[in-house]
Amino acid sequence: MSTPHPGKQAAATAVVNLISDGMSLGLGTGSTTALALKALGERIRSEGLNVRGVPTSFAAERLAREEGIPLLSLDEIDRLDLAMDGADEVDDSFRLIKGRGAAHTREKIVAAQADRFVVLVDDSKMVDQLGTRMPLPVEVLPMAVTPVQRVLDGLGADPVLRMGDRKDGPVVTDQGFWVLDAHFDAIPDPEAINRTLNDTPGVLDHGLFLGLATDVLIGHDDGNVDHRTV
Ligand code: 5RP
Repeated sequence: MSTPHPGKQAAATAVVNLISDGMSLGLGTGSTTALALKALGERIRSEGLNVRGVPTSFAAERLAREEGIPLLSLDEIDRLDLAMDGADEVDDSFRLIKGRGAAHTREKIVAAQADRFVVLVDDSKMVDQLGTRMPLPVEVLPMAVTPVQRVLDGLGADPVLRMGDRKDGPVVTDQGFWVLDAHFDAIPDPEAINRTLNDTPGVLDHGLFLGLATDVLIGHDDGNVDHRTV
């Protein structure tokens, strides 16, 4: 049977081939990483592969448990060998927007602990400029939502509070925070936006991942994968 997302599947299969016995892993969130976690579970069952992983969300934790992937916390290790995760946009300098699944805060913490941070995308995620196709998610303390909206307005964005699907009211993250989706026409200077948001009281974290990715696996619908490294 053909997979509904052959590009995502190709990237997911490719990352699992980079994993070897004894590795400690970061387990990302989203549909592409879910395919990788399933393929990793298959290797654990068929080869007895000995790996452990830090999940980046409740969703990743639940899937890892279903797949029999042993879990680990950041308290138990110095560094992770490899973290894998999807992205919403990737530019040519390996800068990312993440957070469609509102998991970007934990995803960034885990990625920053990894010797290799491998990003899994299909080719539709590659962009010339960040912010042109997806909004930038900003995780905020609920009491700070209006002041942070003003900061985002001042940066030229249109911030929209993310609302629940089959839940009334705002999306509440795994940390109990809310998410503002900041719609830009484009983000020509991601480093400047990163600095401003990092300095804004009430912002827990945001979806710009700068200087973190070491590898990008770009899957194509024909099953081929471009493996780009910094
Ligand atoms: C979740 C994320 C995801 O990794 C990102 O949205 C990509 O998801 P998908 O693989 O489903 O396209 O950042 O917070």
